[in-house]
Amino acid sequence: IMKIREIQEEILRLKKERDFCILAHSYQTSDILEIADFTGDSYALSVKAKDTPQKNVLMCGVRFMAETVKILSPEKNVYLSNPTAGCPMAEQMDKEMIRAVKMQYPDYTVVAYINTTAELKTICDVCVTSSSAVKIVSQLSNDKILFIPDCNLGSFVQQQLPEKKIKLLQGGCPIHAALTAKDVRRAKEAHPYALMLVHPECRPAVCEQADYIGSTSGIVNYAMQSDAKEFIIGTEISIAETLQNACPEKRFYPLAKKLICENMKSTTLMDIYHILKDGEGTEIQLDSKTIAKARRCIDRMIALGG
Ligand code: 13P
Ligand code: SF4
Repeated sequence: IMKIREIQEEILRLKKERDFCILAHSYQTSDILEIADFTGDSYALSVKAKDTPQKNVLMCGVRFMAETVKILSPEKNVYLSNPTAGCPMAEQMDKEMIRAVKMQYPDYTVVAYINTTAELKTICDVCVTSSSAVKIVSQLSNDKILFIPDCNLGSFVQQQLPEKKIKLLQGGCPIHAALTAKDVRRAKEAHPYALMLVHPECRPAVCEQADYIGSTSGIVNYAMQSDAKEFIIGTEISIAETLQNACPEKRFYPLAKKLICENMKSTTLMDIYHILKDGEGTEIQLDSKTIAKARRCIDRMIALGG
């Protein structure tokens, strides 16, 4: 039986031998974060995707993240860590549906959360991530914005930028949007001295009670720099776990036990080991037309979000 440490060492060796770069989203488990070349939130991973020196990139996360790497580095072989790992939010809206909505709002700029398919990105104007959305939307010359698919992130942007007229559709992250005001009440009763930090994919009823609203890396940075000793964390459970490991003198409580993204958690260390050792795994295939069209809105995001 191989121990976790041995598998990790084998992965590090194979990664060099096979010329792989491993990118991991911060929602991955700690055994995976430890062997990655780079970890971070969706924005940081997109920026990194452009300039990895290796010929092969393995994305430990969900499909839209691997597609983003392929769009930005089409000459590379890009693999998704587990073929079943998709973001349910990215599947909520397709090209035909948004094409129809665009006809109703022809003078609106279409802002797509990066949690969308490559296919849908081909008809959008600019992408955003949770850490860059306010900054990017504030720089758009058009005040009329069609924001897809996450209406909670869209509401958060609207609140920060009241001068913009943001049209929202009914979409969102099933994990974050499942949090309710009742969950907040319960968590605050259990931990009355804790600061509450939440992701903007949470509903307004949750966000309005938070001490801080930000992306996964925003939450991590805020908690690390804060003098407070206790925190309620309103995002996927791995962020509370990562923070707890990094800051043993502080306490981190997940806002609710249900904060588990099964898709983000479907990748295992063994999946990574077999991709590197046996060449298993799903290679992302996108045709050159889709890549060229989808790339415009990601390039624009990186230009405006840096
Ligand atoms: P960020 O990495 O931008 O915080 O997004 C969180 C998320 O849900 C990714 O799927
Ligand atoms: Fe998608 Fe939500 Fe999971 Fe992120 S946490 S991958 S937005 S379902």
